[in-house]
Amino acid sequence: MEGGVLLRPMLVGRGEELARLIGGLDRAVAGKGSALLVSGEPGMGKTRLSKFMKRQT
Ligand SMILES: Nc1ncnc2c1ncn2[C@@H]1O[C@H](COP(=O)(O)OP(=O)(O)OP(=O)(O)O)[C@@H](O)[C@H]1O
Ligand SMILES: [Mg+2]
Repeated sequence: MEGGVLLRPMLVGRGEELARLIGGLDRAVAGKGSALLVSGEPGMGKTRLSKFMKRQT
């Protein structure tokens, strides 16, 4: 088994949330900045999603 799979497992689902965050990033690159709030129950994946997005920037 490839070690990286365990060290950095895939992000599951979150297509809609990612689309909204990537939309904000695209607008920021185009010069129109904004703030997006990520909220949810404890352990729902807010930090995971934020870290994933940070790697895309
Ligand atoms: N979309 C996802 N795909 C795979 N694993 C996920 C996903 N979302 C969350 N996880 C896993 O679930 C666990 C909890 O996620 P995370 O720490 O991001 O939640 P959180 O909303 O930030 O929690 P808290 O409110 O306690 O800060 C972590 O082990 C994380 O890797
Ligand atoms: Mg968190």
